[in-house]
Amino acid sequence: MILITAANGRTGRSVVRALLRAGHPLRLFDHNPGVQELAGEGAAEAVIGDLLEPRDVSRAVQGVRCVVHIGPPLHPREAEMGHNVVSAARAAGVEHLVQFSLTHPQLEPLLNHQAKLAVERVVLLSRMPFTILQPMHYMQNIDVARVIADGVLRQPYALDVPLQHVDLEDVAEAAARVVSEGPRHYYATYEVCGDDYRNARELADIISAECGQTVVAEQISFPAPPTDGRRPSEADDYRVDALLRLLEHYGRYGITGNPNVLQWLLGRRPTSFAEFVRRSLACD
Ligand SMILES: NC(=O)c1ccc[n+]([C@@H]2O[C@H](COP(=O)([O-])OP(=O)(O)OC[C@H]3O[C@@H](n4cnc5c(N)ncnc54)[C@H](OP(=O)(O)O)[C@@H]3O)[C@@H](O)[C@H]2O)c1
Repeated sequence: MILITAANGRTGRSVVRALLRAGHPLRLFDHNPGVQELAGEGAAEAVIGDLLEPRDVSRAVQGVRCVVHIGPPLHPREAEMGHNVVSAARAAGVEHLVQFSLTHPQLEPLLNHQAKLAVERVVLLSRMPFTILQPMHYMQNIDVARVIADGVLRQPYALDVPLQHVDLEDVAEAAARVVSEGPRHYYATYEVCGDDYRNARELADIISAECGQTVVAEQISFPAPPTDGRRPSEADDYRVDALLRLLEHYGRYGITGNPNVLQWLLGRRPTSFAEFVRRSLACD
């Protein structure tokens, strides 16, 4: 049995489907009841619970061989959630912990990277066989259908700074391989990165070429979050602070990475941005 946390989210759903294709029995953990419907798709078990509640997490890890821990993004208590999962997995004698981190967690001025680094530290000290996956910025952060409909690729940081990208479907396939092959990947930390190091203008040109319509890149300001007249919560403030730091960093430095490890894990070239756009167009 494999447990996947934050299973109902964007990453979780891709990983769940890749693990189902690989034939694994799954238990899906999320606080969102939508996870039950997802579990129904593949005859998997669903557990509704809170990653901040140690009893919920302990219950979820019982009888599990491998835990794939995905933390909810930009959450002020993400490190605590990771700690809960590692402690529970350790106590339950789980054989393999697969931790979803991100590329370059040591970029500590970024709040989301700080949280991932803290969880990686707990994983390293757990004495458990682990694999840490460090995915790059997803291609899926660009909604291709919407960009084509608007004729504009909007992003809230500089248009000339290149970023590395990765296809979330490649990340999920790599994760499924790590889970299936178990001991071969124990004690490894893998940067999971595609081959497209491109700025927004270049990405817009690729979308134009693939769809046959003009698409231009446009920089927008970071949209102020709606408050509805209420006082922002701790989670609201943290999310905005984390996003502001991330966008400022991307605008100045972009983000870099190397595709060799992903190519080795997949046994093929990672999906290119042009291929991702073509696949998105085929789905519409
Ligand atoms: N986006 C990228 O480019 C990228 C790149 C590298 C790594 N990552 C990492 O990938 C991870 C997953 O991101 P994502 O975009 O897939 O996340 P997501 O779509 O927001 O999914 C998170 C899931 O966790 C649930 N959740 C939130 N708080 C919970 C709690 N306390 N207990 C149980 N479940 C809870 C959410 O439910 P609700 O929605 O109902 O709250 C949601 O179903 C993040 O750690 C992120 O840093 C992302």
